[in-house]
Amino acid sequence: MKRLLRLALTKGRLETKLLGLLRRAGVDTAPLGDKGRRLIHPLPDAGVEVVLAKAPDVITYVEHGVCDLGVVGKDTILECGQSFYEVLDLRFGACRFALAVREGEDFFGTYRHRRVASKYPNVAGDWFAAQGLDVEIIRIEGSVELAPLLGLADAIVDIVETGATLRANGLVPVADICPVSARLIVNLAAMKMKRAPVQAFVALCRAGLEGD
Ligand code: PRP
Repeated sequence: MKRLLRLALTKGRLETKLLGLLRRAGVDTAPLGDKGRRLIHPLPDAGVEVVLAKAPDVITYVEHGVCDLGVVGKDTILECGQSFYEVLDLRFGACRFALAVREGEDFFGTYRHRRVASKYPNVAGDWFAAQGLDVEIIRIEGSVELAPLLGLADAIVDIVETGATLRANGLVPVADICPVSARLIVNLAAMKMKRAPVQAFVALCRAGLEGD
């Protein structure tokens, strides 16, 4: 039997979108329809077995070579990714990183000490450093929109898709940082040692994108 590549797939929204894309490319995704509590799912039509994982773990598995391929958001790549190939923009999961403040707040017009809360402290820190602005970054794990409402921070750096979460909490975006979408990543060694099956999976994804 042909050996399957191992694909780490971010569970949730990116999982649903990738399966849709593979179906458009003619792949039978039924094995992932009834998952139960299993975490590894063979998808022979696509030449992969799928490991469902949280986004930062997708990067860990691919970097360590226990998975050959990964599907993960550019947000997670910017925050914690380093050594792998980013081979394809899958276009789904499209949103942006933005800086947001409480409505009426003049974030840029003050010289006082400013605190910025984010689930993405590296992305936020890099952006402020590039702007030449000295701010304190506070790492938050949950709903970062709470930080300005509780008085913990003057602003947040977070992902904005529709803007509904910001609006619902009286926050407004004041700067766009960068766009974000799902990416296909490949382990460095797998790109050389398993070139043909890796290229076949990339081609499958491209076919799904064209059928979009
Ligand atoms: C993200 C982000 C915002 C929300 C933005 O959270 O942190 O809270 O989506 O989307 P919107 O602009 O369409 O309102 P997500 O739902 O991914 O959950 P998370 O907090 O677990 O990251």
